[in-house]
Amino acid sequence: MDKLNLYLFLFISIFKHYTCVLEEFCDKDDIECQRPKDVTKLGTLQHGKSQEHNILRRVQRVGMHECVTECLVTSQCIAINYRKDWKLCDLLGEIPRGKKLRDESGSTFSKISTWPKSLAGRCADHTCDVGNKCEKQQNGGLSCLPAYCEKSAPDIKNAACIEHFGMYKNLGTANLFKCNSDFTMRGNPFLVCKDNGEWKSLFCCLPNNKVPHDCSDIPSDCTSGIYKISPKGTSEFDVFCDMETAGGGWTVFQRRLDNSTNFYRGWSTYQNGFGNLQREFWLGNTFINEISSSGKYKLYIELEDFDGIKKYAEYNFFSVGDAASNYILSVSGYNGSSTADDSFSYHNGMEFSTFDNDNDRWKGTSCAILRDGAWWYNICIMSNLNGLYLGGKTDIFGDGIVWTSWHGKKYSLKSTKMMINRN
Ligand SMILES: *[C@@H]1O[C@H](CO)[C@@H](O)[C@H](O)[C@H]1NC(C)=O
Ligand SMILES: *[C@@H]1O[C@H](CO)[C@@H](O)[C@H](O)[C@H]1NC(C)=O
Repeated sequence: MDKLNLYLFLFISIFKHYTCVLEEFCDKDDIECQRPKDVTKLGTLQHGKSQEHNILRRVQRVGMHECVTECLVTSQCIAINYRKDWKLCDLLGEIPRGKKLRDESGSTFSKISTWPKSLAGRCADHTCDVGNKCEKQQNGGLSCLPAYCEKSAPDIKNAACIEHFGMYKNLGTANLFKCNSDFTMRGNPFLVCKDNGEWKSLFCCLPNNKVPHDCSDIPSDCTSGIYKISPKGTSEFDVFCDMETAGGGWTVFQRRLDNSTNFYRGWSTYQNGFGNLQREFWLGNTFINEISSSGKYKLYIELEDFDGIKKYAEYNFFSVGDAASNYILSVSGYNGSSTADDSFSYHNGMEFSTFDNDNDRWKGTSCAILRDGAWWYNICIMSNLNGLYLGGKTDIFGDGIVWTSWHGKKYSLKSTKMMINRN
C-alpha cells in the first residue's frame, strides 16, 4: 500500500467507525429503537466509547432516540453515552479540559451537533436555565422544569459518599454516605437531589467521644431534634435543638404548641421538667440553670397567634439562678430589631413561683394561683407563657399564654418557644 492508499484506508475505516445510521445500530424490530418516521439518520455515533466526566443526568430504560431527545431538551446537554444492553442513557455536559473519552465496550457516544434538531419538536430552541429542561405542557405551551441538580453535590463534613447508585444528580435520587471513623451517623445516610433541583442531606455526623456543651456545638448541617448535651462536662441530658431559626444552634427550654401538656404544675415538677421534648415541654429549672450558668447566653422567644402570624423577642443576656436563689431570672438587652415588643424585661430579677411556692412581689395571695401558671412573677405579669392554653381571644384576664405587648392580656397565643444560644 502506498501512502495515499494508506491514508484512504485509514480515513474510510475511521469514517465507517464513526458514521452510522440508526438501522446499523438497532435491530429493525427492536422496540427500543422506535422513532419518528422522518428520522432515518441519528447522527455520528462512536461505538465503544464513553465520557465519564460531567454526567448531568442518567436516564434509565429508554431507547436511543429518547436519549437523544432528552439531551436536546435539557439545557447544557451536548452529548450522550448510550448503553444499549442496559437501555441506559447519560446526558453529558461539556467534557472537562484535558479529559478524553474512554474505551468502554457496549457504550456508544454521540454529540448533539450531529443530530436532527427536529427530534426536540418545539423545544428545539429552548432557552431554559442551567439545570432545567424544556417540556411541552398540556395546553401546548412550553415550560422549563428542573431536570437535575445543577450544582455539584455539597461537601458533607466528616463523611464520604460510598455509593451513588449510578444516578448521581438525578432528581429524586439518593447518594449513600458513611461517616468517617470517630463520627456517628445521625439521620438517614443519604444525600438527596430533590425534585426542585436542590441538594438536601438527610444526616449529619456527630463526633463519637465528645458530648456537645449545648446545641451550638451541634454541626450546622444537622436537623432540629433531640440531642444529648453536657454543659459542664459532668451530667448529660437530652434537649431539643432548633437548627433552623435565626442561624440555628438554639437549645430550647420551653415549648407550647397544641395543649397536649398540662402546664399548671408544682415546684418540683418545674424543677425537673415535664412534657415531651418533641412537642410541649418545660426542660426543668435545674437544667436551665445548668446550661445558662455554663457560659454567656442570649434568649430568643418565638410567639405565634391563631392567625398564623409569628413574632419574636430577643434578649442579649439571659440566665437563671440555682435552687437556692429560687431560680432567679436575669434578663436584659432587649434587641430593638425584634418583631415583638418587650414583655419580659418586667420579670427581670424575679424569683420563680409555682402554685405551691410563692416567691412573687405581690402582697396578695399568689400570682401563680391567680394567673394559673408558673413564672418569674412580679406584681404579676407582662407575660405568662406557662399559663393556660385558652386558644386565642378570651374573656379571662391574664390567665392564658399571654404576651401583653402584642395581643394584650385577653388573648392566649397558639404557640411559643423559648430558647438560648451562647453569645
Ligand atoms: C439584634 O439582632 C440582630 C439579628 O439577630 C443582630 O444582627 C444585632 O446585632 C442585634 N442587636 C443587638 C444590639 O444585639
Ligand atoms: C386545653 O386543655 C384543657 C385541659 O384538658 C382544657 O380545659 C382546655 O379547654 C383546652 N384548651 C383548648 C383551647 O382547647
